[in-house]
Amino acid sequence: MSDVQSPARIFAAGALRGTLEVPGDKSISHRALMVAAASATPIAIRNLNQGRDVRATLESLIALGAEVDGAGSSLRVRAVQLREPVATIDCMNSGSTARMMLGVCAGANLRASFDGDDSLRRRPMEPVSAQLRAFGARIDTNDGRMPVQLHGTPEIQTQRFILLTPSAQIKSALLFAGLYAKQPIEIHNDKGSRDHTERLLRYLGADIAWNGSHVSLRSGITRHDPIEVAGDVSAASFFIVAATVSPGSEVTIRNVGVNPTRTGLIDALRSMGADIVFANAREVAGEPVADVVVKHATLRAASIGADVALRAIDEVILLAVAAAFANGRSKIVGVRELRTKESDRIAAIERLLGSVGIAIETEPNAITIEGGVPRGTGAVVETHHDHRTAMAAATLAAGAGPVGIDSDASIDVSFPNFLETLQSVQRP
Ligand code: S3P
Repeated sequence: MSDVQSPARIFAAGALRGTLEVPGDKSISHRALMVAAASATPIAIRNLNQGRDVRATLESLIALGAEVDGAGSSLRVRAVQLREPVATIDCMNSGSTARMMLGVCAGANLRASFDGDDSLRRRPMEPVSAQLRAFGARIDTNDGRMPVQLHGTPEIQTQRFILLTPSAQIKSALLFAGLYAKQPIEIHNDKGSRDHTERLLRYLGADIAWNGSHVSLRSGITRHDPIEVAGDVSAASFFIVAATVSPGSEVTIRNVGVNPTRTGLIDALRSMGADIVFANAREVAGEPVADVVVKHATLRAASIGADVALRAIDEVILLAVAAAFANGRSKIVGVRELRTKESDRIAAIERLLGSVGIAIETEPNAITIEGGVPRGTGAVVETHHDHRTAMAAATLAAGAGPVGIDSDASIDVSFPNFLETLQSVQRP
């Protein structure tokens, strides 16, 4: 909570009813652009996420010479050959852009400088840099952080990598480096992080195999089929939890990506008694997709393991919100990485739940939440410009009553029409 007197916005209690859609998946959107820019034949991308993070990736690829036709969420992208950018690549608030574009430039043998906003300048860039140095790139960081200077390499040093951090961004940086360098690579010690890069490459005909701990990319893409981006399960999660905790709710969220490496939140909520059903299951561009039907439910506390938290890394804040409404003490293990997201998300969970009278205990790699009856008072929570904290406040308020936030400007990082979508389904 803060002393800020005038909140930018106060979210209110209210059941969610009706049908909604969420934007294209942010993770898949970054990857679709990067894969298309490895193709001299144009690849059509539809339902591209329209948030600022994905725009950072699009603009950085244009700065490297990618050709883009179309506008908004439907584009055709190709690149005959990427070239060195004249200016520093501005990754804005986007860790995915920074880490994965480092991989693209390393493999494409380019020299490039990268920078970002104040939040991105605080986030660790050494783990990805260390692994790309093993690939053969020369990388100078500012004490492990942005700005970063990279010299790509025509000759890779090793084709076999052991992932030292359980990060899909780093795994993907290495896969993009291999793809652009046209070199087979193997990555070991994945812990089951999101596999969108692997699925997209397979969808476009690459020779790639993976099993949740090991990835082997043997050759690049051979097809140029359109990429339809599935709806973002992380964006859907704000509504899944809001409907679960707000009595009288029943919503259908259409066209949601339900890749098992991303559904940790849904699995955890089901183990707590949530009523979540997948309807109309299908596959779109190599990704499982379904309509997600959620009804209000009474939750019980649960112990959530690190394997689930990895598959819900961006939704732990929402899992904590759900646990605040559950009877008993819930423990979530595997949360260490949350300190280094767009903001310190463990501190954000403390501020959010504290504002409705729910206490949490923190350990370096775990949080414990004493569930109860959260009651919103309209107190203002500082978001630290973190989009997920701002939207999680709306989710909390749906069941607890008024929760204020200091600013809603960050929301367009991932979900530009979040507020309109919420308004379209929430009844006060
Ligand atoms: C992402 C992976 C996750 C996630 C981020 C997006 C991705 O980061 O937090 O929002 O698209 O690969 P890490 O891989 O660093 O955990």
